This record gives sequence, structure tokens and C-alpha cells, in this order.
Amino acid sequence: MKNTLKKKKYYLAILCVVLVASLPAYGAMTKKSKTKSIEQRVDSVLRLMTLEEKIGQMTQLSNPNIPTGPTYISVEKASNVALIREGKLGSILNITGADLTRRMQEVAVNESRIKIPLLFGFDVIHGFKTVFPIPLASACSWDMAAIASAERVAALESSAAGLHWTFAPMVDIARDPRWGRIAEGAGEDPFLGSAIAKARVQGFQGKNLRDDASILACVKHFAAYGNAEAGRDYNTTDMSERLLREIYLPPYKAAIDAGVATVMSSFNEFNGTPASGSKFLLTDILRNEYGFKGFVVSDWNSISEIITHGAAKDKNEATIFAMNANIDMDMQNNCYPKKLKQLVEEGKVTVEQVNKAVRRILRAKFELGLFDNPYKYCDSKKEKSVLLNKENLAKALDVAKRSIVLLKNDNLLPLSKTAKVAIIGPLADAPKEMNGCWAWYGEQSPVTFLSGVRNKIGSSHLIYAKGCNINDATTDSIAYAVSVAKDADVVVLCVGESGDMSGESNSRTSLDLPGVQSLLVKEILKTGKPVVLVMTNGRPITLGSLNDSVPAILETWQLGTRAGDALAEVLFGDYNPSGKLTTTFPITIGQVPIYYNHKNTGRPNIDGKRQGYNSRYIDCGNFPQYPFGFGLSYTKFEYSDFKIDKSSMAKTDKATVSVVVKNTGSYDGEEIVQLYIRDLVAYGVSRPVKELKGFDKITLTKGEQKTVRFQITPEMLAYYDLNLKKIVEPGDFSIMVGCSSADKDLLKLNLTVIE
Ligand code: GLC
Repeated sequence: MKNTLKKKKYYLAILCVVLVASLPAYGAMTKKSKTKSIEQRVDSVLRLMTLEEKIGQMTQLSNPNIPTGPTYISVEKASNVALIREGKLGSILNITGADLTRRMQEVAVNESRIKIPLLFGFDVIHGFKTVFPIPLASACSWDMAAIASAERVAALESSAAGLHWTFAPMVDIARDPRWGRIAEGAGEDPFLGSAIAKARVQGFQGKNLRDDASILACVKHFAAYGNAEAGRDYNTTDMSERLLREIYLPPYKAAIDAGVATVMSSFNEFNGTPASGSKFLLTDILRNEYGFKGFVVSDWNSISEIITHGAAKDKNEATIFAMNANIDMDMQNNCYPKKLKQLVEEGKVTVEQVNKAVRRILRAKFELGLFDNPYKYCDSKKEKSVLLNKENLAKALDVAKRSIVLLKNDNLLPLSKTAKVAIIGPLADAPKEMNGCWAWYGEQSPVTFLSGVRNKIGSSHLIYAKGCNINDATTDSIAYAVSVAKDADVVVLCVGESGDMSGESNSRTSLDLPGVQSLLVKEILKTGKPVVLVMTNGRPITLGSLNDSVPAILETWQLGTRAGDALAEVLFGDYNPSGKLTTTFPITIGQVPIYYNHKNTGRPNIDGKRQGYNSRYIDCGNFPQYPFGFGLSYTKFEYSDFKIDKSSMAKTDKATVSVVVKNTGSYDGEEIVQLYIRDLVAYGVSRPVKELKGFDKITLTKGEQKTVRFQITPEMLAYYDLNLKKIVEPGDFSIMVGCSSADKDLLKLNLTVIE
């Protein structure tokens, strides 16, 4: 009798231990555990996980029906719920929708042993269902509030559709418009790019990650992916550490300083080592120097591609490189899921390395509140009410019109609403082309230019002709378009690129208008009718002689869901365009790379003349067609009274410059006042002829003037010395303010810094 009782007690005790062990993640979710710190809760889950379950958390797979990368890789499918049930999957990309994500989350938290919620990721690059202008366009607003508000809407919509994480902002500096992904970033400048990176992170992540509409942001692609040789995507990136630190790193650091939750590694080789296996980038800089505490996800298959780069002999080596570089999650690859366990068992990767990665991933899931409520993003009623609602559409219109850049206006714009308008061109009624890259989930019937103009002025005095296709040699519709133009008072001629001519793996060797569009423009110009050229493109375009022959040019980029309404607002003067370029427009591709913050060289071509021994071309000038920071307005802004409160200062001191800006035209408008600084001499190091160090977007009613002030701080004057140490050195600095980076648009003062 006694023995039996003893046995019963023994088995009961075992049963209790098993029961407690089998409810691990719930242990982390119970009410009382909420008082534990996130670290304690992470550890309490980690302690209970098997090695396989840990590797499962480090594995991300894509919806097989929506691949956003090459599909020749044979990997498991995220739709295989068995993987979730077996704890072999921690994150899924490219699956959206409150209902579907709920069903998959239920499998994870109810049917798996470890019950850890899934993380759903997606490329919410410029809007989710409501599509905003491409990032290169909204960057031209130089309006941080507008940019942050666009990402807030994107977070509201995507979180309502079950998503926890966006693979944005892309902050790669780009100086080569042949590169298709220039469309996804903020252009060529590190200072502006840093301000925009911060605004985008704040928009996505909101005030607190636990808020219902906050999503994890992901700064990418770390690092220097935009420096792809010859502008060809995925190509080699090789540069000095000086160039890396002065130009390419600042926007990533700005995102990290803004609290970005995750980082994505990049495809490119960086200085000989594939970035996704680079300890220098992902550990020495990102973790040790920048102090990044979040988790790093690889890019699509980028760990295996260390083999393709020829820098690893097999997946085992690639996996070791990635783990040693501190990549925590393996996107759509079969390195971590297939190789990591054995490598740990062989001691080639340590359990501590795995634990470090898993901790970072679990921490993000706790910070989002997923352990407390795995379904907080799975509210289908909210999804229906939030997506494409009128507030979001209104915000999309506001950001779109602020993204438009007026490049030329020979007294033609704004148009009269009573004029007979011919709207012509392959981009005039092209809904598919208004969204640009990374918007295939967005609203697929954006407002076209034709619809937008019709919404504005009605159809009684509006005529349309396509004229030609975007990118082929067909010319038989040009004659009809010419006849339509002849019948109008003014022609709005809509030209440019298709949405798939930029974005990932869409580089071009030409920046010209594709197909026979230039011929269409020339034929329309022969009618003698005034022409407004409306550009739709994902990169700077070279117009050649058309720049001189058309009286007005509007750069609209790809404006998204409200494209046509935004154009109409600007065309007819209901909104005075305020955008300014964030990437240089070359005269010809032969000048590329061409950017404003260039060095002086030892033989600068001062006068632009093609003679003498100096840095020039024999067949083209050095100046761009349209410089960084350039954009016109319907009104005129006059700069005067540029002053500085001290002509010299100690290197730890500050100075203040001020300039009076007056609206001397006949329209209310906004002006982006820019501050540039040149370090005239730095010991042993040549410095750019100018660098953007400040900007202020101001609104001035007609006749109004304002005094704009900038503080000159030591940080603005610092540079990397011969030993790559950031210092402020006594010497002379040229302080410049104006309406673009072109010398002719800048007022200059000197400031001497003393010890
Ligand atoms: C792509 C892109 C990256 C994107 C990821 C997921 O290859 O390089 O920017 O976030 O895969 O779609």
C-alpha cells in the first residue's frame, strides 16, 4: 500500500514538472509575469527552448505566392503550417490580412510546444494600401512632418492588416541614377538623408512600440548598397573608409539613433567581403560603435549568396560567417534552418551566439506586446475601416503635391481652369505607372493625370491622346496626338518611365526618355502650342535639348494613389509647388556620378570653359542640368541681409547666421532655405566644396518676409582627420545660404574658427 502511494506521489510530481515545462511562453504571458522586465521575460522563455526552437526563431520564410526575390532557392514554404506547429518558423514575410495572420498566429501560440508568437513582415516602402509618392519623391518635400505622417498612415494601415514589421526605411545614399533603387531612398545627401531616416523611423514606430498602430521599422541595406559599381544593382561596392563614414553611413546611424528596431544587411560585397558576412560592418560598426541593440535580418537569401560571391565554400561556411557577423535572422534562405544545428553540435557556432540572436528577436516581440496579445494586429473590422480611408487619402494628396518639383516655368504655369487642355502622352492615363516600385499590394487604381485634370476642370474643354507607348518604337499614334494638340490652347505632355523601370534589379544604361517619347515631344512642340512637360520617373532623367525647348517642366516622380489630383492642384495653381531635388539631374549620363558635394580637385574647372589643363570634358560642361536642392515656385523669393553674429569663434563655441527671405512674387508659397558649409582647409584632407548642414522650410504669403536663422555648431564644422578621427580644427569656413546648392543661388560669409 505504502509503495503504491509513494509511486502515485512521485508520478504526480513528474506530471507537475512536465505541465509547467509545457506551458513556457504562457509563463511569459501571464498577468503576474507582466511585472517582470522584458529581459526577465525573454530569459524565462529562452530557458525553456530547445536548440531547434531557437533556430526556428531565427528563420524567416516568405509567402511562396508573393516572392520578392529569386525563387530558384529551394526553401520551405511559409504556408507550411507544420513548420509553425513544430516551432521551426519565427517570422513570415509577404503574408498580409488580419484574418490570415490570425489563423497562422493561432497555430503558433496554441499548437506549437513553445507557443511563441510569429512576426509578420512586409515591404511597406511608401504606403500600404494607400500608396504615397516613392521615397525619392517625398524626400523632395524636405518636409519631415509630411514624411513622418506618410509613414504613420502606412503603419496604421499595415498594422490593421496583421503586419508587425516593415522592411523600411531604405536609406542607401545614391549618387548614380542608373541604379534603379535610387527610387527607394532619399537621394545623394547624408545630412538630408539622415533627417529623413529619422522621420521615417518615427513615423513607422510611433511613440511606443506597444501602441496598436506601431510597427517595427528596419533600416536597410547595411551598408553602402547604393554605391553599386556602374549603377548596376547588387554590384560590387568598394570605397575608402573615409567615403563610407562621410557619405554612406550617416543615414543608417540616424535611424539607429532614432531607435530603429531592426536592421537589414545588404547583398553587395563591401571592400572585398559580402556585407551579409561582414563583421566589420555588422559588428564592429553597427554593434560596437553604434551600439545597436535590435536584431539584424539578412536580405533575401543573402547569406547563401556569400557562396555565390565566392567568399564561402558552402552553406556551413556561409552560416558561420553570418553568425560571426551577428546576423540574427535568416530571410528566405536555408542556411540557419538547415545548417545551424549541426554547426552548434560541432562547436563551430556556440550556443551563446544562438542565444544572443534569439534574445534580440524575442525582445522585439515582447516590445511589440505580442506575448501579451498575439492577436493585437488581427482585427479584421479595424482593417476594413482603416485601409484607404478618407483621412489617409487626404494625407496621400498632401504629401504628393509637396513632392512635385517645378524644374522650369517660362510664364506658362499655373494654367487657367478655362483653357482648352490637351493631355497627351503614355503616362497621361496610366494607372499602373503612378505607384512606382514596391507598391504591388497598394491600391491599383490610382487617380491618373487625365482623371485628376478632369476632376479639376471637367471634361468639356479637355482632350486626350496617348501619342505613343512608354518603351517601344511604335510611332503610328503620334500624328493623331499632334492633331489633338493643335485643337487645344495648351498641352500637358506626360512622359517618363514605367514603374518597373526602377526599383530592385531595374538599373538602366540610359537616363533618356524611353522609346519614342522624345520624338512625340518634338512633334507636339512643332505645333507651336505651349507645352507643360510632366515627368513620371523613378530616377533623374536626361531630357537633352528638350530642356531648352519646352517652356515648363514638372517633375512628379511616381506620386501614388492621388497622383492625378496632386498634379491638377499644381497645374492650375491651387497648390504652389515647393519641392526641391534631392538628387542631381545630369546633362548627360556621361557625367555620372555627378553630385553637389564634390571635391575641388587640384585643377578645378572654374569658368566652365573647355580649355586649359583642368578637370573638364571636351564635349560637355561639369555642371548638372538641375542641381541638388533646386526647385522653382510660382512666386519669387529674394534673399538679403545675410549676416553672422561673429566673424570668428572658438572651436567649442557656436555662431548664428541669419538671412532675410522675402516673397516678392504674386503667389503665397513655401521656400526651402538651405545652409551649406565649406571647410576651406583641413590638415592633409581635401573637403567637399560644400556640404548641406541645415535647412528650413518656410511659408511666406505674397509680400511677406521672414528672417531665417541657423546656428553654426562645432558638429557642423567637424571632419574626419587623417586618422579618421572626427575633430574640429581651427581654420576658415565658408558659410552659405540660398535656394539651391548652385553657387549662383548662394550668399556667402566667412567664419574663422580658432583654438
Ligand atoms: C528584397 C530587397 C529588400 C526587401 C526584401 C524582402 O530582395 O532587397 O529590400 O526588403 O527582399 O522583400
